[in-house]
Amino acid sequence: NDFHFCFTPFLMVFTALLLVLSTWRWLRSWELVAGPPGPLPWPILGNALQLGASPHLAFLRLARRYGPVFALKLGSRNVVVLSGSKIIQQTLLKQGSDFAARPDFPSFQMISRGKSMAFGTYGPLWKLHRRVAQSVVREFSTKNVDTRHMFEKHVVAEVGQLIQILLGSCERETFIEPTRNIIIAVGNIMSAVCFGTRYDHSDKEFQQLLSHNDRFGKTVGAGSLVDVMPWLLRFPNPVRTGFREFRNLNEEFSAFIQTKVAQHRNTHKTNMTRDMTDSFIDVIDSGRARTNGGISLTPEFVESSMTDVFGASQDTLSTALMWIFLLLVHYPEVQRKVHAEIDRVVGRDRLPLLSDEPRLVYTVAFIFEVMRFSSFIPVTIPHAASTDTSIRGFRVPKGTIVFVNQYSVNHDPEIWQQPDRFDPTRFLTPAGDTIDKDLVNNILIFSLGKRRCIGEALSKMQLFILTSVLLGEDTSFTPRGFKQGRA
Ligand code: HEM
Repeated sequence: NDFHFCFTPFLMVFTALLLVLSTWRWLRSWELVAGPPGPLPWPILGNALQLGASPHLAFLRLARRYGPVFALKLGSRNVVVLSGSKIIQQTLLKQGSDFAARPDFPSFQMISRGKSMAFGTYGPLWKLHRRVAQSVVREFSTKNVDTRHMFEKHVVAEVGQLIQILLGSCERETFIEPTRNIIIAVGNIMSAVCFGTRYDHSDKEFQQLLSHNDRFGKTVGAGSLVDVMPWLLRFPNPVRTGFREFRNLNEEFSAFIQTKVAQHRNTHKTNMTRDMTDSFIDVIDSGRARTNGGISLTPEFVESSMTDVFGASQDTLSTALMWIFLLLVHYPEVQRKVHAEIDRVVGRDRLPLLSDEPRLVYTVAFIFEVMRFSSFIPVTIPHAASTDTSIRGFRVPKGTIVFVNQYSVNHDPEIWQQPDRFDPTRFLTPAGDTIDKDLVNNILIFSLGKRRCIGEALSKMQLFILTSVLLGEDTSFTPRGFKQGRA
């Protein structure tokens, strides 16, 4: 008992000393380098608990207090968060190569066994990979009239199926839950372009493959705790379970892509490019994907490129379509205006075409407003400093993680009047017959600079065809779902 009595105060003082020491080391490691201001981090966890379920909103609150460049700690890692158009443009455009790296996260290394372009770090091999991927994506989407027409055909066929399925479900049920069908429809469009195949909406394997897309987005977004606190992998906890699910989903996805590429290699003939997979096989297996310095993409890069392109297009485009559905239901007067425009410009005898786009200005403005208002990719994939550098005089050491808050730009009251109001007409010029291109350029959802999304043009084209064909049919979205006839 005596021993216990003496030992307790000693233990308390010792623990307190340890805490003070570790906190001091913690703060010094960041502040000594004159880093940006930011909230005080907790030992071990850093500021991880302050981010909550919507990190972009937490970042917005912190930016109001600490400014457009502020620092955080996630676990043991230093993070800089950028908010607002000016600083994001300065960092991603003017200092592009300083901030074009990706963090060395375990989850990023897992994707395509470290050969992913989207998650790979900055350097000559990455530049080559990105150039090849960009050119293949263009070749099957926006390159010329023929490729655009081919792409349009895939989208129109898929929307037709989707409409029939939604109308069918509405006859059977009192309301519909379209998520699964939207995911399959978007999956099918990209599967046709990537692999030349489409799947039935009832195909269980395809459903299973695409059902975890959102989990992927969450892990690679700002929320992956294992990446910043790797010790969480050492004992059972929900974060470790989530990380293992992420690993399984990557393996499942890789196995799907490997089978597709193997099938293509078995049936591939030179000069017969059926789809994007053939195109990557052509350029990579032939050794043409090479720099003057002798760096080249080896055959495994076919699989990793297809994983990048097919993977990146799934959660993004299906989330966009879900927002389109939701906002049409929520704002019936906007839906009526889109219907009226399509009826006036295109008429009821045919469906809208890509070539109608310049005259369907309200429809286009609606799509831009969906992107801005929802900001459905609120934070980019994390960047990292590729070298010791600085932002606005604050030192940023090499390897620092950089989060870019796109939402902060899309809801900035200095750029947008009443940013929290959904109003497509904000993108129309006063005469109402053209799009205000300068204002459109202020939307930030595909990021900027060296890591800017390579699927931007394809996505904009796809969203226009999807929306105009969905609304060109004699059908309407209602609070219960979807019905025949105009609302
Ligand atoms: C509306 C749909 C889409 C949105 C909003 C979107 C947005 C984004 C964003 C925010 C990034 C991260 C940029 C950064 O880290 O700074 C990104 C990267 C990327 N996206 Fe998209 N994306 C969309 C569709 C697509 C599609 C359809 C493809 C494929 C054709 C694609 C391919 C990629 C690739 C490969 C990257 C990695 C680029 C790099 O790291 O250099 N995306 N996208």
